[in-house]
Amino acid sequence: MKPRVYITRRIPEKALEIIARRCEYRMWDREDDPVPREVLESEVGDVEGLFTLLTERVDERLLDRAPKLKIVANMAVGFDNIDVAACARRGIVVTNTPGVLTETTADLAFALMVAAARRVTEAERFLRDGKWKTWSPMLLCGVDIYGATLGIIGLGRIGQAVARRARGFSMRVLYTSQRRDTGLEAELGVEWRDFDDLLRESDFVSIHVPLTEKTRGMIGKRELSLMKPTAVLVNTSRGAVVREQDLIEALRDRRIFAAGLDVFETEPLPKDSALLELDNVVLLPHIGSASIATRAEMAVMAANNLVRVLHGEEPLNPVTV
Ligand code: DGY
Repeated sequence: MKPRVYITRRIPEKALEIIARRCEYRMWDREDDPVPREVLESEVGDVEGLFTLLTERVDERLLDRAPKLKIVANMAVGFDNIDVAACARRGIVVTNTPGVLTETTADLAFALMVAAARRVTEAERFLRDGKWKTWSPMLLCGVDIYGATLGIIGLGRIGQAVARRARGFSMRVLYTSQRRDTGLEAELGVEWRDFDDLLRESDFVSIHVPLTEKTRGMIGKRELSLMKPTAVLVNTSRGAVVREQDLIEALRDRRIFAAGLDVFETEPLPKDSALLELDNVVLLPHIGSASIATRAEMAVMAANNLVRVLHGEEPLNPVTV
């Protein structure tokens, strides 16, 4: 008998085929609506494999309802939606999708830097709203990217990919990380700084750390006050790394120049969020890895992890804590 699997959203066909060949599956067959919690809780009762997105919380309560579960294959590199320690206690393997989304996410971090610095989305709204009367010397002026200093928080795969792109813009690149890596410094031409110095010296600060108890709220009022008034903050990691209310106040009071955000404390961004009132922030709906090719690769990677574990093979991308 094929192992039973539950898939929490409609996924790309190629990934579904991998699962269908070797598993019996049920799927929440919608693209844009997450599976309701009560449906998920009732669906996991008899399954050995669970294919999840970052929108599903895999916690003790869900695990209690899934006595046969052997693997949670998350279609994301981040896994803060999963209680990995609780899974480990029950012998449940957790996997993620590292590597395949690195370059795509770095592209988006750069897009946000450019858009926030050069006021791209604000300028487009201005034009579409029929406000463009004439060319004027200081109309919609932003700050330069070329030759500026970029501070990267977290020099993992995506941080490194952002650093490589920055060379094309002749940027000076600083980084701060849990561990200093002199080999990488030489390879990428980046300089290490402690956290506070990086914030003080950078014209752009781009965040590339996972969300953990250590990184939660790591950018707040104090850290924002260290940044230059002309600085731009970019976040493509997880919203809760930044204290959103503190950022809103800093942007509102023009204590920093702008921000580019792909992630938020609460997703989807609440319709009454004060961020929506501000013109010096570029807001995107968590699309860092959203290229057609990359999303397909992420789904295939998660499907392969799922199927392997359910057939007694080693997972390709196990998560450990
Ligand atoms: C991830 O993979 O963690 C991203 O946030 C979605 O691609």
